[in-house]
Amino acid sequence: MMQYSRPRRNRKSAAIRDMVEETRLSTKDFIFPLFLIEGTNQKVEVASMPGIYRYSEDLLLKEIEDCLKLGIKAFDVFPAYPESKKDKYATESHNPDTFYLKALRAIKQRFPEVALMTDVAMDPYSSDGHDGLVQDGQILNDETLEILGKMALAQARAGADILGPSDMMDGRVGYIREVLDQEGFTNVSIMSYTAKYASAFYGPFRDALDSAPKHGDKKTYQMDPANQREALIEAELDTMEGADFLMVKPALAYLDIIKVLRDHSHLPIAAYNVSGEYAMIKASAQRGWLDGERAMLETLLSIKRAGANVILSYFAKEYAQLVKG
Ligand code: PBG
Repeated sequence: MMQYSRPRRNRKSAAIRDMVEETRLSTKDFIFPLFLIEGTNQKVEVASMPGIYRYSEDLLLKEIEDCLKLGIKAFDVFPAYPESKKDKYATESHNPDTFYLKALRAIKQRFPEVALMTDVAMDPYSSDGHDGLVQDGQILNDETLEILGKMALAQARAGADILGPSDMMDGRVGYIREVLDQEGFTNVSIMSYTAKYASAFYGPFRDALDSAPKHGDKKTYQMDPANQREALIEAELDTMEGADFLMVKPALAYLDIIKVLRDHSHLPIAAYNVSGEYAMIKASAQRGWLDGERAMLETLLSIKRAGANVILSYFAKEYAQLVKG
């Protein structure tokens, strides 16, 4: 039998497979999301996210120090507020003395070299558990922008390097950019949650922050999982409004969206490998149904192969430990 082309020749040894490998992950690709709680000496595991903890500021600083040693340089910090600190207007989000902003200042003071990312959305501070201001069951868009502007400015003042508007209000990237620039924060970046879908995969995150909506769902602002072309409208708007990165979220059920944005935009593309995606792999690995390590690597690789330059993942530390070890 005569066959000129035999693709298996390029798979015949590890040395050759390594040579023709098209996608390579690196610890530099990651942003590690971290959960912050008030107090001292607190470290509480998130029940639905084995291996992921909510830390008080002192222990969070220690965790960041450990991660820096492993080569992780970018962190996205999310605060978990008690119900008593929440209100309709997310007032606590721009109180300069609030524990979240204090912790951001402490992180930048201690580790000025880190890329510190924050989340701009009302849900952790909102008594309604929504990303926007609720009135008569409706999520008000333009009134929410004013609150997001104050929150963004407070986070920039606390030292955030990258702001992540995750709320999906229309016009928020431009509004935040303008507020930042007017106050002299022209160097603060915006990583927009460009295509954020109304997804079931955020469940464990909402457990971590106690931030589930008290009524209704997020479908009037987060995108419909059925839509791909609409992501391009969001991408065009965010680009015109001055976003520095475009993000797709979740990652795994939306690899096609990552690819489409990658093909249509010249901006760096980020993908958020969300809490539910982490929980699925952890839960099946704990039962012995999957090889957790291999499933993690394959998953992360798929996100990069689809076109993400930046991956936000709860696996970041485990990945970094694995490749160092
Ligand atoms: C909220 C926000 C969410 C996540 C990041 N920012 C949840 C939501 O929209 O309900 C989810 C992250 C995850 O699931 O890992 N503004």
